[in-house]
Amino acid sequence: MKGYEKYVPFKQIEMPERTWPTKTITKPPIWCSVDLRDGNQALVTPMNVEEKVEFFKLLLQIGFKEIEVGFPSASETEYAFLRRLIDDNLIPDDVYVQVLTQARPHLIERTFEAIEGAKNVILHFYNSTSTLQRKVVFKKDMEGIIDIAVKGAKLIKELSEKRINKDANIRFEYSPESFTGTEMPFAVEICEKVMEVFECTPDNPMIINLPATVEMCTPNTYADQIEWFCTHMKNRESAIISLHPHNDRGTAVAAAELGLLAGADRIEGTLFGNGERTGNVDIITLALNMFTQGIDPGLDFSNINKIKETVEKLNKMKVHERHPYAGELVFTAFSGSHQDAIRKGFEYMKESLSPYWEVPYLPISPADVGREYEPVIRINSQSGKGGAVFVLEQFYGFTFPKAFHPDIGKLIKEKSDALGTELTDKQVVSFFEEHFVNLFSPYELGVHTCVSINGSDDEEFNGCIKINGEEKALKGLGNGPIDAFFDALNSLGINGFKFVNYEQHAISSGSDAAALSIIELLKDGKNYFGVGISNNTKKSAFRAILSAINRFEKEKVN
Ligand code: KIV
Ligand code: ZN
Repeated sequence: MKGYEKYVPFKQIEMPERTWPTKTITKPPIWCSVDLRDGNQALVTPMNVEEKVEFFKLLLQIGFKEIEVGFPSASETEYAFLRRLIDDNLIPDDVYVQVLTQARPHLIERTFEAIEGAKNVILHFYNSTSTLQRKVVFKKDMEGIIDIAVKGAKLIKELSEKRINKDANIRFEYSPESFTGTEMPFAVEICEKVMEVFECTPDNPMIINLPATVEMCTPNTYADQIEWFCTHMKNRESAIISLHPHNDRGTAVAAAELGLLAGADRIEGTLFGNGERTGNVDIITLALNMFTQGIDPGLDFSNINKIKETVEKLNKMKVHERHPYAGELVFTAFSGSHQDAIRKGFEYMKESLSPYWEVPYLPISPADVGREYEPVIRINSQSGKGGAVFVLEQFYGFTFPKAFHPDIGKLIKEKSDALGTELTDKQVVSFFEEHFVNLFSPYELGVHTCVSINGSDDEEFNGCIKINGEEKALKGLGNGPIDAFFDALNSLGINGFKFVNYEQHAISSGSDAAALSIIELLKDGKNYFGVGISNNTKKSAFRAILSAINRFEKEKVN
């Protein structure tokens, strides 16, 4: 037998009448965080009480109204934590704390002690129902498993009626644990029996949680299970159908989304998908997927970095760099064509004032999760001209001429190839300045004047330039300062340059406003760009011209 032959394929559900494939998600589910229970029980070092309090406060800030806080009958820390929340009044009036217990009498009794004094509680109990667990763990038939659930339900009902604090709101949740491995008619039967005990009505519904305790099949089959369950159960309107997907096959998010299409009302999951084995479904991804479809998820992830930092600290676990929406690299493009398209997208957004998000390669605006635009483009040897130009445009605050892009891209690629590392924005600007801006060798602008002749547009340049440090006087006339300067250069035999293009931009250099000029000259069939910066507009143009000529001279030497 080959290795893979020992696995039995998951049995599909015969369900040609399924309706979920043509549905759309139009509203968020009821969210329930299980970070402090399912997430916590999967940690190498579970959280202590103080850490749990900090996590609880974070969940409140995000906007959760239902929070599973632990399994108080199974651990002293979880018991102490719940008591701390209740005794220190840390649970807001509109928030339900959820506690988990197995459907076993002594654990149920201890759970009731733990919740005494809480205003809003969801009492969540479970037992395993799957074919495999019945066979290898419990060694019971279906009747025996129903008996465990019903006895647990009866005890919970009885204890809740006997509670001292009658003002408290107590709701019930039942999970047929290992639901995905359970025969669907049996899952329906056991849940109906539990609902009968609680006499559920549409005004007094209970939560029926259908966990993919182990994710065993493709998400469409999970959706079929959910739709089958919802359409075959009695009193559907007296139940809140909840999903609790785990991520064994890496498709928990898809399973949750399809499960919502199939009729579920509620989702249990964790931040960043921490949880047993490969984790629980990631609520952040689910919520932000909805956000990017124009749906308000009702949870606030507008400062995702802070949330990530806190969760990493408390879970003592890193969030992957490529984790959807939150990973360090998810708003970064290294590839040249992606960088170019993103840059154009940002330009388009600015020019068109579009109210909609229309930037290629970025499904969400980084600003919506409190991330910055700056690190969107990072420069390494894979990057093209678009990325480098984007960085310069962000730095100087204007759009660079298109014809200049290839020269800039070539320079930055050579630099990152030579260094073998990613370049910071600062390095990109500094290499650009070193190679294009205010180049002083061999030609450097010296003392000069350039004034209008008798108030006309014509100008006269009069002054000197240094050639390899040696001063030379020069003089020229022209229909404007640039023309006059070219004429003066001609008089020294610096000629043969054809003027192609010129532009000037106001930039701020430190506290001063300065002028940045870009000139494009043509000589011997090749274009040379030069950039000049000065507080004086004419001087900025002359420096740009000399920078372009100096680039030509340098290339000649090399
Ligand atoms: O994954 C699971 O089935 C659970 C139950 C206890 C709901 O965590
Ligand atoms: Zn679970």
